Amino acid sequence: MNNRWNKIIYKLWAPLYDRVFNAGAFARARVKALSGLDLKPGQRVLLVGAGTGADLPLLSGRGLLITAIDLSPEMLAEARAKVKAGEDITFLEMDAQNLRFGDEALDAVIANLIVSVVPDAERCLQEVVRVTSRGGSIVIFDKFAPNGRVSPVMKALRPLISLLGTDIGRDFNQLFLPHQDQVSIKEDQPLLMRGMYRKIVLMKQ
Ligand SMILES: C[S@@+](CC[C@H](N)C(=O)[O-])C[C@H]1O[C@@H](n2cnc3c(N)ncnc32)[C@H](O)[C@@H]1O
Repeated sequence: MNNRWNKIIYKLWAPLYDRVFNAGAFARARVKALSGLDLKPGQRVLLVGAGTGADLPLLSGRGLLITAIDLSPEMLAEARAKVKAGEDITFLEMDAQNLRFGDEALDAVIANLIVSVVPDAERCLQEVVRVTSRGGSIVIFDKFAPNGRVSPVMKALRPLISLLGTDIGRDFNQLFLPHQDQVSIKEDQPLLMRGMYRKIVLMKQ
């Protein structure tokens, strides 16, 4: 996977995306993923790889200062269309592996279905941790290899699925290891597909 391919594939996904990943079980999983997030009016929230803004309705009406970044202008256009009158959300084309925010600039970062998509997941998580303030939360709803193990079937399917713009074989525990002194795992629970999709909430110390 690389940024160039992701831009092409998510341009194609843009008109269809919500019908698959913002409906049914996925929509219900999103509600669970964002439940319990203690956010107060005026807090700065970043949606990394915001896509079509499927998470935006779940955050609206709370007086949050929301910035949504994505590599794909077509996905961002879908997200803009979800903004309700009177809401002020900043949309920026930006690479999740190179966030143009200062250290600890955000109170919460929501990184749903992006860690499995960016070419360099280590770099993306490093950036997410860097921009989160101390005491701030990081929410990750995404798919990871269960127990870090890639079964023979997954191994066979992995290259084909990556052509669709996502990787089914990433190991969250490996990605987390370099950050364990800075960040603690507050919650890690299965959400979908026998735990392949998980809700992970991190807190920066
Ligand atoms: C599977 S979608 C997830 C969208 C949204 N977070 C959600 O939960 O529905 C992945 C998104 O990541 C974006 N993306 C891919 N590579 C990226 C990168 N390097 N930086 C920022 N966004 C990227 C794609 O354009 C797409 O909108």
